[in-house]
Amino acid sequence: MRLEGKIALISGGASGIGRAEAVLFAREGAAVVIADLQVGQAGDLVDEITAAGGRAAFVQLDVRDTEAWEASVEFTESTFGPVTILGNNAGTNFRVGWDEQTPEMWQTVLDVNLTGTYLGIRAVVPSMRKAGGGSIINIASSAALKQGGGGPAYATSKTAIVGLSRNAALAHAGDNIRVSALCPGHVDTPFIRGSQSHSKNTWSTDIANPDNYAHRMEQQPLAIGRLQSGEDIAYGALYLASDESSTVTGATIAIDGGSTLL
Ligand SMILES: NC(=O)c1ccc[n+]([C@@H]2O[C@H](COP(=O)([O-])OP(=O)(O)OC[C@H]3O[C@@H](n4cnc5c(N)ncnc54)[C@H](O)[C@@H]3O)[C@@H](O)[C@H]2O)c1
Repeated sequence: MRLEGKIALISGGASGIGRAEAVLFAREGAAVVIADLQVGQAGDLVDEITAAGGRAAFVQLDVRDTEAWEASVEFTESTFGPVTILGNNAGTNFRVGWDEQTPEMWQTVLDVNLTGTYLGIRAVVPSMRKAGGGSIINIASSAALKQGGGGPAYATSKTAIVGLSRNAALAHAGDNIRVSALCPGHVDTPFIRGSQSHSKNTWSTDIANPDNYAHRMEQQPLAIGRLQSGEDIAYGALYLASDESSTVTGATIAIDGGSTLL
């Protein structure tokens, strides 16, 4: 019970890495609020966590919406109490290069990935102050650590999340609010798999295609025989969410199977 007594708000919590965080955090004793656009999936996850003996609720959230963030924090406080953990997971991508990317695509990716992360931090800080502190875990990407490549808007948004995390870490250190960024590599979630992927591909890297799966495996040096799972990332988030990391802030941690070593 590494998170006993803690209260987590998890954006993008209905799927993939956010979902894995919600399940793991609840198993470790936290009450979790799953905040996502996908309310059906979020509701099913609440049922699953509750059936396993955990405490969970869901709220509809578009991370681009300042008022919806504030309403999500109010909902969390009235349901469980002040927020002590924020998992900023919601993200999107258009897998296009410079020639195909439009200004509208650029703006959408920056709005969801970067502004959404900023608005989440902004919304939870007053609640964390009431609680005497907290931990904010922003999901960046190995795209933030590579020398180049990746979609231009996506790589820019994720690199900026690292800077935002450091800036917020220093700004809120005096309130005992910690802020760090995790950089996952190739994680087998709907983000990169199958028709559910909300990457609006013009060139596909959908890993349901065995050739694409093999290509990504080549970009992950660590010989684990599979791409990463949501749980691989959630275990890093668990450390940052728990008191075990009580002096860790402003950190950028790669959980990437070594992919940024290439
Ligand atoms: N899968 C990977 O290989 C990988 C690698 C590095 C980083 N990431 C990052 O991890 C994070 C989670 O991705 P995932 O792989 O779990 O994907 P996923 O598609 O499984 O989950 C993303 C969730 O975010 C939600 N979401 C999207 N836009 C939203 C919005 N505007 N408001 C609220 N919710 C919204 C979706 O509904 C979905 O439930 C993203 O930020 C992504 O960029 C993923």
